Amino acid sequence: MTNDAPREGERLQKYLARCGVASRRASEELILAGRVSINGAVCVELGVRVLSGVDVVTLDGKEVLPPAAHAYYVLHKPAGYVTTMDDPQGRPTVVHLFPPDGKRLFTVGRLDKDTTGLLLLTDDGDFANRLMHPRYHVSKTYLARVIGYPSDAALRRLRKGIELDDGMTAPAQVARVTRGDGWTDVRMTISEGRKRQVRRMFSHIRHKVLKLHRERFGPLSLGDLPEGDVRALEPAEVAALLEAASVGREV
Ligand code: URA
Repeated sequence: MTNDAPREGERLQKYLARCGVASRRASEELILAGRVSINGAVCVELGVRVLSGVDVVTLDGKEVLPPAAHAYYVLHKPAGYVTTMDDPQGRPTVVHLFPPDGKRLFTVGRLDKDTTGLLLLTDDGDFANRLMHPRYHVSKTYLARVIGYPSDAALRRLRKGIELDDGMTAPAQVARVTRGDGWTDVRMTISEGRKRQVRRMFSHIRHKVLKLHRERFGPLSLGDLPEGDVRALEPAEVAALLEAASVGREV
């Protein structure tokens, strides 16, 4: 290789996102703010490339390293699967939807057996705990089909917060989406993750949930992932989830 051969590696903002510092966009801001150095020299340019394992990248003087190789997946959960790793009653569990690769996965929270939609799984216990910790209030969006036609007043009560047997619910975003013959679809975004919370909230306003589907978890949506399928998260998606939990990976 000659000295003027093109320098390989990856763009600095991509490296920072891969290391879980922040999303690529937020990493660009860190660079422009003069907080990032390469081999001791502050770098305020966005196009610069770095070689992982060769260049020393620092943020605010602390070295930024790629995270240990953990696995992060998003599953489009079908109805009928329980969210546990091992079911003593022998029912199908979400683990049955994964190819066996020897990794010990945890789910990030739970979906009821009959709930469909977005479920995160990982072998990174710290990540799972952070995303589920009530302090960080990561939002989750559900589409609920309920029996009957909830009134505006009932939806306002869900928005404001209602007293369940484990305490008052935090304010929620609630919007009526469609009405059919005897049912209504309601989209609801909550920042908590209590057991059967959405079903209990609707039960409180006397509307039984017929179907429940989780559309989003923080910044992540299912996109066009077919039901029953799994895909690995991109490093920038992992970084965005951590950012939603208001925590950067420690560097
Ligand atoms: N709320 C529920 O009631 N059930 C779920 O599966 C998820 C949220």
